[in-house]
Amino acid sequence: MTENRSVLVSGATGDTGRAAVRESLALGLTVRALVHTADARAQALADQGAEVVVGDFLDPNTLRPAMEGVDAAYLCYPVRPGLIHATVNFAQTAKETGLKALINCSQRSADRESTSPSCRDTHIAEQVLNWSGLPVIHLRPTLFLEWLQYFWVLPKLREGILWMPTGKGTSSPVAAEDQGRAIARLLLDPTDHLGTTIPLSGPAEIDHEQFAAELSEALGREIVHVNPPMDEYAAYLADVGVPPYGVDHIVGAMRDYQNGAMSGADDNIERLTGRRPMTVAEYARPRAALLTGSSRGTAPGSDQAAGR
Ligand SMILES: NC(=O)c1ccc[n+]([C@@H]2O[C@H](COP(=O)([O-])OP(=O)(O)OC[C@H]3O[C@@H](n4cnc5c(N)ncnc54)[C@H](OP(=O)(O)O)[C@@H]3O)[C@@H](O)[C@H]2O)c1
Repeated sequence: MTENRSVLVSGATGDTGRAAVRESLALGLTVRALVHTADARAQALADQGAEVVVGDFLDPNTLRPAMEGVDAAYLCYPVRPGLIHATVNFAQTAKETGLKALINCSQRSADRESTSPSCRDTHIAEQVLNWSGLPVIHLRPTLFLEWLQYFWVLPKLREGILWMPTGKGTSSPVAAEDQGRAIARLLLDPTDHLGTTIPLSGPAEIDHEQFAAELSEALGREIVHVNPPMDEYAAYLADVGVPPYGVDHIVGAMRDYQNGAMSGADDNIERLTGRRPMTVAEYARPRAALLTGSSRGTAPGSDQAAGR
């Protein structure tokens, strides 16, 4: 471990960013947290011991002071338009500041042929970083367990329905908390992983029948998986307020999911951190009140995702 190692976590008020900040601080790193908005979420990071800086991926002049003097950085742009623009700005800033390691949050289904604009953009963003010559590690997480808390998923879940057009597709869903532990480890010591692409998943590959069964056991009530027709699903997403880019992404990603783009499981989180990532049931059990609606509480960041 390098003494006084300093790291930048972007997307720091988001799901993986918050976890990466917390876990990096726990490893003794000096953490600068790049936030988009100076709000209560940002204050919570400062309270934990991070240096909070406000900046915008789309304005490189705000990135430069954020990245100045850090050894490694986590790049995490949300599912919104502008990923390629943001990536180029981040890469240019990394060049200017001599960044020694850039951990890039990509996605399992990054693919230039995808019908999801976000999946296409993440593919191109990976290529840009590759030909930038920067010392990069791409992370390709599979489906986040935080999906269960997203505002277009949670209301139906509380009615006992896991309403996702995943067909017979499989994944090994992964919690942001576990990703945060892996990100922090890579920020601490990226050397052996530079130039690689690391898939990140939960411990077990499951289809959505098994997903619903695990939820039923953990929540103590029956949850059934329902596969809506894609048109009906897209209309629902728009109706509940997912912006157009988010709708296009989710629908495209669900098509990819049906075709196996999210399949497989790996043990990379355990290899990196020494601890197995949590299962669906382990994620759901402590959040049972929230997920069943028996409490009106919401977990921090539960409204993050898909282009709000
Ligand atoms: N969800 C999944 O199942 C899944 C699966 C695989 C990969 N991924 C990838 O995960 C990434 C998202 O990670 P996440 O869920 O941890 O993020 P998130 O919770 O959506 O948070 C994104 C963060 O970025 C900040 N942000 C937004 N626009 C910004 C800007 N212009 N400049 C600076 N900061 C900005 C947001 O702040 P404000 O809220 O203040 O705007 C927020 O803190 C995406 O790249 C996605 O492709 C997701």
